[in-house]
Amino acid sequence: MNQEHKLGAVTWAKRGSFILAATGSSVGLGNIWKFPYIAGQNGGGAFVLMYIGMVLLVGIPILLAELVLGRRGRASPINTMRALSRETHSSRFWTIIGWMGALCGLMILSFYSVAAGWVLAYFDHALRGDFRGLDGSGSLTLFANLLANRDLLLLLHTVFILMTVVVLALGVKKGLESAIRWMMPSLFALVIVLLVAATIEGEFAQSLRYMFSFKLSDITWESALIAMGHSFFTLSVGMGAIIAYGAYTPRDMSVGRTVLAVAFLDTCVALGVGVAIFAFVFATPGISPSQGPGLMFVTLPVAFGGLPAGDVIASIFFGMVILAAWTSTISLLEPSIAYLTETFKMHRAASSALLGFVAWLLGVGAALSFNDWAHVEILWGKTFFDTMDFVASNILLPLGGLLIALFVGWRMSAQQLNQEVDLAGSRIMRIWRLLLRYLSPLAILIIFVYSILPVLQAVFGE
Ligand code: PHE
Repeated sequence: MNQEHKLGAVTWAKRGSFILAATGSSVGLGNIWKFPYIAGQNGGGAFVLMYIGMVLLVGIPILLAELVLGRRGRASPINTMRALSRETHSSRFWTIIGWMGALCGLMILSFYSVAAGWVLAYFDHALRGDFRGLDGSGSLTLFANLLANRDLLLLLHTVFILMTVVVLALGVKKGLESAIRWMMPSLFALVIVLLVAATIEGEFAQSLRYMFSFKLSDITWESALIAMGHSFFTLSVGMGAIIAYGAYTPRDMSVGRTVLAVAFLDTCVALGVGVAIFAFVFATPGISPSQGPGLMFVTLPVAFGGLPAGDVIASIFFGMVILAAWTSTISLLEPSIAYLTETFKMHRAASSALLGFVAWLLGVGAALSFNDWAHVEILWGKTFFDTMDFVASNILLPLGGLLIALFVGWRMSAQQLNQEVDLAGSRIMRIWRLLLRYLSPLAILIIFVYSILPVLQAVFGE
């Protein structure tokens, strides 16, 4: 393989850092904000079951594929794909996996950081005890006032981008790895404290029933597709974050077990936080679990406001969400930072600042989408914020995942794969390859067509 692109010496210093970093990337607003509300809107238990199925059939195979690419290429996703297309005698076209991923990371970061900024505001509210005695309409007003406050949204977005850039600028080991090593255990501890609080103060049994009992009739075509799309977003696959992190893994790592651990932890956090959130929601009369995107910012504060020690629980909750979002945002920029530092020998601090600035600029549009630009349509009825989310999550991620599955499934030989995965010749290896070659691409193609269908209808239907 071509040596010039290799990152060479950079390897995680400690065992387990990849698991922590990849879990940090995957556990984020997707698990805590999005998962509970889409589960709530799509029938609870039935949705949870489909989501687990999608993680197993589509998410995990592609997660493993990304890790394999990173380990083989040992460079940023763009340079990894350049080297591997040469190694497999494939067309340079496959480098697009890296380019699309870098773009997708910037786009996700732009709106993600704005939403993470709301979490900063809510953490502050929680610390001040602002949720005490809050009712439904008071809570709606609180959120609406935040969204209308352009300057505050911009400030919070800026703070979150700075938090992200600082960690990345310090480098892979001193920044990323050392941050992850304290953030992830703290995050897990906070999730456990929250669950304990939910068993004491929430309607835990009712919540468990809601999340895990299902009626077959609740399974619909549409919710299956939502579950599939979410399995990508939540595992951070399709944009190269795992390729970038995988490039830093030591040779002697148990790859199969690692991937399962990451997916397992991500799912546990989604389910654990979901159960806790619904336990608090059910403990408050008159509020609904299927409220939609406002579940975390409108419904939950009302629930917290009515609980004994609600301020403490709310502070723990929003503090946990900040950590979860932070460990995700750093992974969104790592692929493109690694590319600039490798290719142009740019200093980490300079490339982090430059790319952070690009994401910040895009994020300004996302922040204005709730006030000054609320009526500006970018794509068919979508604000800037929604456009970034739609293009990145519904188009670029599935497309990236599709190309990754096809490249690893069809262009890499069994021998090459066996060198990267410690499961040579096993049945798991054969099943994985079959999934990558046939089932995952087919499944992704279906989500893809489905998610752009409304757009096509909007364009051609009139
Ligand atoms: N997985 C993250 C979440 O669930 C979001 C993310 C997507 C992060 C893609 C990195 C890459 O919040």
